[in-house]
Amino acid sequence: MTPPGFASTRQTGASKPRAGGPSHGAVCAAVRIEVARLPVPVAASYHAGAAPIAGAVTDVARTVPLVLAAGRGAKRLEAMNGRIINRTNGGGGGGSVILVTGGAGFIGSNFVLQWLATEGTPVVNLDKLTYAGNLHNLASLEADPRHLFVRGDIGDRTLVARLLDAHRPWAIVNFAAESHVDRSIRGPEDFIQTNVVGTFHLLEEARLYHAGLSGPARAGFRFLHVSTDEVYGSLGAQDPAFTETTPYAPNSPYSASKAASDHLVRAYHHTYGLPALTTNCSNNYGPFQFPEKLIPLMILNALRGQALPVYGDGLNVRDWLYVDDHCTAIRQVLGQGRVGETYNIGGRNEMTNLEVVKTVCALLDEARPLAAGRSYASLIQFVEDRAGHDRRYAIDADKIERELGFRPAESFESGIRRTVAWYLDHPAWIESVTSGEYVKWVAAHYGA
Ligand SMILES: NC(=O)c1ccc[n+]([C@@H]2O[C@H](COP(=O)([O-])OP(=O)(O)OC[C@H]3O[C@@H](n4cnc5c(N)ncnc54)[C@H](O)[C@@H]3O)[C@@H](O)[C@H]2O)c1
Repeated sequence: MTPPGFASTRQTGASKPRAGGPSHGAVCAAVRIEVARLPVPVAASYHAGAAPIAGAVTDVARTVPLVLAAGRGAKRLEAMNGRIINRTNGGGGGGSVILVTGGAGFIGSNFVLQWLATEGTPVVNLDKLTYAGNLHNLASLEADPRHLFVRGDIGDRTLVARLLDAHRPWAIVNFAAESHVDRSIRGPEDFIQTNVVGTFHLLEEARLYHAGLSGPARAGFRFLHVSTDEVYGSLGAQDPAFTETTPYAPNSPYSASKAASDHLVRAYHHTYGLPALTTNCSNNYGPFQFPEKLIPLMILNALRGQALPVYGDGLNVRDWLYVDDHCTAIRQVLGQGRVGETYNIGGRNEMTNLEVVKTVCALLDEARPLAAGRSYASLIQFVEDRAGHDRRYAIDADKIERELGFRPAESFESGIRRTVAWYLDHPAWIESVTSGEYVKWVAAHYGA
């Protein structure tokens, strides 16, 4: 049986065979790691007329039905602080659901948690669950009917089309990516596949879906692409910070693949009128960050008494932003950003890697003192520099501050304190991510 929503999008011009072949997407419960494969059709319908995700999606485990914001939870949520999206102005006249991709990763999972705690409207979360995706991040949503987790690839057009048809989101927020520069140097192909080809397929489906909308639903639809400041290349010590008009000059396979995706998003707005927005953010830190990235790697190694590897002379400069602030900025751009625009997001907080590592060490010295007054900083070891290592990134956040009134809530001092405390308080989470793939990567990369 063809679900009604499914048929309608096909009529908007998607009748040709889909790239990506048959769907391998699995709709599963919010936080179940082991997906029990049940060959049953699923009725994931949460509002009248919504299409079940069924039929060809055969590897369905279990669905979590969503409820509309007009349901029981809505009143409670209306009263919550921190709500940014005004559905009558920002969200258009469609449904209240948003589709988040990469929502089991570091920033994506923080975003989903913040969204449900503030905006409160349902989230369909599409994530491939690569090594970087972790359903433990979403454990607190296990019984939350507003969250539907779908395991799948943004490049699987059949699956993406089904999700759009079934859930009729008013926005797509694209976090899904391969995100680690060092991995892109060792093996760029996955970066091209997901960041470039995957984003292209997602854009194609968004374009077809948008073309099939009308009235307020069409006017209110948004595609928000989450990108990085690394697309702008490297700055000298005295250079002005990146603005939204700084020419792109990506230097790593990671940043080149993100730059390519940004260009595609821009082109889909310019050529097809897709109501797209792009955000380019500086380095994030906070809970749920996979410990291949600088701050969690340092915390974990320090706690294990292992060397703290710092690239080169440690004087590479990054701007650091607490992840919750990034998520708030994304909600602001989604709600009030001007369609077709890009917004740089940053913390006005430039620091060298060495300063960051020493700060982490000082906080650990306070919280978990070593014997005989020794500091964790004694574990710092300078290692051979990363190939093509960009010297400095800095964000000029004037546009988002001026137009949307964005201000980070956390200073680096408060954010890093919260972050270190979070890692100390969550040994089970650390245990869950530091096995298997993680061990292999650390061994291959650092020879540990
Ligand atoms: N981490 C940062 O400091 C930072 C800064 C600025 C921008 N960004 C951007 O923000 C986004 C999220 O970054 P992050 O640090 O959370 O990354 P992450 O690596 O922690 O998470 C990426 C998520 O995407 C999922 N994913 C990967 N390929 C996929 C695919 N083909 N289909 C569906 N899901 C897929 C992974 O399973 C994972 O859950 C990325 O686009 C990144 O470029 C990150």
